[in-house]
Parts: sequence; structure tokens; C-alpha cells
Amino acid sequence: MPASDQVAHATPDPTSATPSATATPALELRDVTVRFGGVTALSAAGLRVAEHTVHGVIGPNGAGKTTLFNVACGFLRPDEGQVVRRGETLARLRPHRLASYGMSRTLQGLGLFDRLSVLDNVMVGADRHGRSGFLGTMLALPGATRDEDRLRERAMEALERLRIAEHARRYPPSLPYALRKRVALARALVAEPTLLLLDEPASGLSSEEMDELAALIGGLSGEMAVMLVEHHMDLVMKVCDRITVLDFGKVIADGSPAEVQQDPAVVAAYLGDDVADLDADTGPATDPATPTEA
Ligand SMILES: Nc1ncnc2c1ncn2[C@@H]1O[C@H](COP(=O)(O)OP(=O)(O)OP(=O)(O)O)[C@@H](O)[C@H]1O
Ligand SMILES: [Mg+2]
Repeated sequence: MPASDQVAHATPDPTSATPSATATPALELRDVTVRFGGVTALSAAGLRVAEHTVHGVIGPNGAGKTTLFNVACGFLRPDEGQVVRRGETLARLRPHRLASYGMSRTLQGLGLFDRLSVLDNVMVGADRHGRSGFLGTMLALPGATRDEDRLRERAMEALERLRIAEHARRYPPSLPYALRKRVALARALVAEPTLLLLDEPASGLSSEEMDELAALIGGLSGEMAVMLVEHHMDLVMKVCDRITVLDFGKVIADGSPAEVQQDPAVVAAYLGDDVADLDADTGPATDPATPTEA
């Protein structure tokens, strides 16, 4: 980790009662405030993602979920507050340096390269494991062939894990949206992150595809912590160990799925939905049914 980013060390919260609450979290967002002109998108919002857990972030439209995600992966620098990774405050977090902190992310827009094969797209994600890196491989630098073989092997393993290995030689635009989402996830996983940030991974998926995604995400926590920003309540309730609920830029609840579902403030935030209805999909009307981005 670059020394310049280590500006402070977190101390465990002495007021926390349980050992798990005092353990150093995989990720802590502390008192994060983000303003866009006159709009306060986040107001002293915080959360702690424990190691080896799936942590959901939910909230009604405009609550600040994407803004919080963007702060967590360095797209946005908060006006106030800190991003703390395993006890170290990351003052200069940038999206392209996530891998050096053991972090990976997927984006709603997928961000796949149309002119690279599925396999090459995934190999880009494995970059930090090759000594000469993907660029070195492309430029045929010394040592690159051995690294390339290893990279390819690891990328194929990631594709097999997501059951899309047979599409390795195809190009993203020729694949259905759900498979492209899996390619993006394979690319995030191939770097072997210990913290995975997922932004609305279920958008545009059928309910069957969502079940498969739930099983996959649920299986990841043996290897890593996951922060899952998601509209689809049924997915979140199924896979998350803990959930933070945002409304108007503030954290209004934080707890287990059962605790959050019964929280009156959460029920009220979802415009008077019955508690039972929080199980249902409350995704936005703007969710792309047949998205066109790669
Ligand atoms: N770049 C921006 N410029 C101005 N306002 C912004 C910007 N990005 C977000 N906002 C505002 O900040 C607030 C939080 O937005 P954000 O996108 O984080 O919410 P969200 O919970 O992700 O919503 P959704 O469920 O609709 O995706 C909203 O009021 C939004 O209009
Ligand atoms: Mg959003």
C-alpha cells in the first residue's frame, strides 16, 4: 500500500459491545458528506463492512447509494469523511488503484471492451498478478509469455467459475446482457480481491438469473467481503449478512435483514410499504429490461 495514502490509523470503537463489532472491518466509510452544488447527496453517512460478509446498501431512489459506492471506489472524493480500508485511511483512493488495496468493483455500465474477446477482457482484470502485467504481455516484454500463460489460466478459471468458459473467444457485443454481466464479474474476481464492490449487479436480470447471481454472491463471502449496492430487495434480503439503509443521504437503519425489515423508519422510507412488501422487488422503473451498453 502506498505510504502516501496511509495518513491515519483507525482504532476500534470502544463503545461497541460485541467482538465482531470491534474487529477491524474490511471497509469503513466514516461520516461521509457529499454535496453537489446545493444538493447534499450524503450527510455524515457511514457503514462498516466486516470481513467475510456480504453487506447490502439499500434505500429509495435518490437516497445516495450510488454516491456512497462512488466514494468507496474512489470515483468521488467526499467533502467530509473518510474511506478506511482494514484500519488505514485512504486519502488518495483512485479507481485505477483499487487493486493495490485488494479491492475490485463492477459497474452498472459493465465497462467491457467491445473489441477484446471475453477472455482478454477478463485477463485485464488479472493484471496485478502478472509481473510484467497485461500491458507488458500485449507489448511482448521479456518474461511476459510466462506471465501471459498464468494470466490466461487464471482468467479461464474465473470464466469457468461463472460458467461462461465456452464463451471465452466471443466478443461482448455478441453476448446477451446477463452473460456480459458475468464477464464483468469474472474480471472483478480474477484479481482475487479481498473486498468486492458491486453496483446494482441484478439490474436487467430475469428472476431466474437473479437466483443464480444470489447463489454466486452468497458463495463469495468465504473468500472476501462484499459491499452490494442494489435496488432488488429480494436479492439483498437473501444474500446479505448486514444491511445499511439510506434515505435522503442519511443512514436510517443498519442491521441484519430481519432487523432492517422490521424497522419502522425503513418501512416509512419505502412510502408506507407493508413490512412484508420489503421482500418484493422495488427496483426502479428505469431498470433496463434490454440494456444496450456493453
Ligand atoms: N453529479 C450529480 N450532480 C448533482 N446531483 C447529484 C449528482 N449525483 C447525484 N446527485 C443527487 O444526489 C442525490 C443522491 O443520488 P444517488 O444517485 O447517490 O442516489 P441513489 O440512491 O443511487 O438513487 P437511485 O436509486 O435512483 O439510483 C440525488 O438527489 C441526486 O439527484
Ligand atoms: Mg443509484
